[in-house]
Amino acid sequence: MLKYRLSLFLFTFLIIQSSAQLRDRISLSGEWQFFKGDTETSSQVEHVTVPHSWNAQDGTTADYYRGKGTYRYNFDLPKNTKKKRVFLRFEAVSQEADVFLNGQYLGNHKGAFNAFCFEITPYLKKKDNELIVKANNILNPDIAPLSGDFTIFGGIYRPVSLLILPQTCITPLDYASSGIYIKQTEIQDHKATIDITTKIDGDISGNKKLRLRTSVFDPTGKLVTTSENEEIRASENTVAIDQRIYLDNPILWNGKAAPNQYRFFCELLQGKKVIDTLSVYTGLRYFKVDPQKGFFLNGKSYQIRGVNRHQDRPGKGWAISEKDHQEDMQLIKEIGANGVRLAHYPHSDYFYSLCDKEGLLVWAEIPFIGNGTESTAFEENLKQQLTELIRQNFNHPSIFCWSLFNELVKGNPEKLVAELNDLAHKEDPTRLTVAAANIEGRPENKITDIMAFNTYPGWYWAEPETMGPSIDWKKDEKRGVCISEYGAGASIKHHQQRMKKAPKCEGDFHPEEWQAIVHEGNYKEIDKRDFVWGSFVWNMFDFASGGRKEGDTYGMNDKGLVTYDRKTPKDAFYFYKANWSEKPVLHI
Ligand code: GCU
Repeated sequence: MLKYRLSLFLFTFLIIQSSAQLRDRISLSGEWQFFKGDTETSSQVEHVTVPHSWNAQDGTTADYYRGKGTYRYNFDLPKNTKKKRVFLRFEAVSQEADVFLNGQYLGNHKGAFNAFCFEITPYLKKKDNELIVKANNILNPDIAPLSGDFTIFGGIYRPVSLLILPQTCITPLDYASSGIYIKQTEIQDHKATIDITTKIDGDISGNKKLRLRTSVFDPTGKLVTTSENEEIRASENTVAIDQRIYLDNPILWNGKAAPNQYRFFCELLQGKKVIDTLSVYTGLRYFKVDPQKGFFLNGKSYQIRGVNRHQDRPGKGWAISEKDHQEDMQLIKEIGANGVRLAHYPHSDYFYSLCDKEGLLVWAEIPFIGNGTESTAFEENLKQQLTELIRQNFNHPSIFCWSLFNELVKGNPEKLVAELNDLAHKEDPTRLTVAAANIEGRPENKITDIMAFNTYPGWYWAEPETMGPSIDWKKDEKRGVCISEYGAGASIKHHQQRMKKAPKCEGDFHPEEWQAIVHEGNYKEIDKRDFVWGSFVWNMFDFASGGRKEGDTYGMNDKGLVTYDRKTPKDAFYFYKANWSEKPVLHI
């Protein structure tokens, strides 16, 4: 036993040693120069801290800045790059970026919410490398979203880093993903079949005596299996290696806090030498939607009681910190939610990881909202954003579905939605496709695996109790139904007790008490119906909505259960805290 422990210790020690030498990540977050527009006049140049949103201050005004912005960053070549390849990775730039290094054009990226990556090895100098990012957040018919009530903040609003990797490596260039995809082909309580695909890039054509070894550690840290493949023979310089592993009695990720995650440790070997290593984590679980009985996680009934979330904060726009993400998570956990819809676009990798750790089920989505153009470029952009969303977030156990649209109201998007649906299944056969509609009977509502509706009884129309019949009309014998949005506006400064009727939602009076009444009425109707597989409050937090003119703060959507600054939970927050607890106050 001691011998076993000692060898495990040495093995782990060697792993840590070798990964430290083989790969490195250097953060380029910090002070950058910035000016609005794309032509510099020295008076305009500001020193800003990246991650940065250039309209963090005016994002709640109707004419917030949508235009161009230019960033500059100078850096010396880090010491540890000898015989290595260097990649530049942006976690997100809103919403289009053209990137230059030392005058060399690296490329363009369209879409505000996903990561992208370039190899920069040939263009690096020892000293004073100049990185220029020309971004813009102008409404562009070729880039989704084209509508939505939320402010489109601009800028390099998530971290930027240099990845220093071996010459032949697990590639960061496959849609800026980790390069490793853990596919949960079949999970049962006593057995798991897992297919791992690892993408490699470098000098690999012919027979370079390369092999891939993947070791799997269970959530307690115990090595449970190792798979090693034959020597890789490739005709090109990138290759995808498939491995299949079987596990007996897997420890399942179960939607509880500190849930169980396996570590997949991939080593690339050349002969006997380890030339690259990378660890990725995932939790093993299985789920299904039963159209009559709702959501099941690992074979047990698990109705999703969720909230929606946007990613902005006052004074910061979308450039929020890890601490901000943690605070959001704490509030979401405090009310007892067990799911979250990350609306209406891909959120940061850090937040998906928090959901993995806290055991929240995640609805992940692309920003196809309201309307599209007929342009092929727009359609291609949506497909690119969907592919990025899936590949970059493939290993997060919290994600159970890929959402393809929100409230399409115009045009004829049926063919496009069908193509997106096929693409999602091709990229990931293990998760469900879903969409959120607000109009019944539209043909594109029939395409996804499961379906959901946004509905606002008690706010935009009728009384809270009409939620019940409205759900019954939407019931789908084959796909069940989910309420992907419901709620009401509320200002913490407006109060009126014992209201019987909704205030005019688009007026200025948004009493906090009415929001609580709407939630109580809607909640009772949802909770009575077992076939409703999930419901998501719109919204957990107030958010910037530049064009809105209602409530007491123009430029905001005030349907949050908590104020924009996260300081004040509203009455409805406490309604959920009392009823989503282990011992609900209401007995329905
Ligand atoms: C819509 C939409 C949201 C919007 C909400 C509202 O249904 O999906 O993006 O914020 O309604 O009007 O508050």
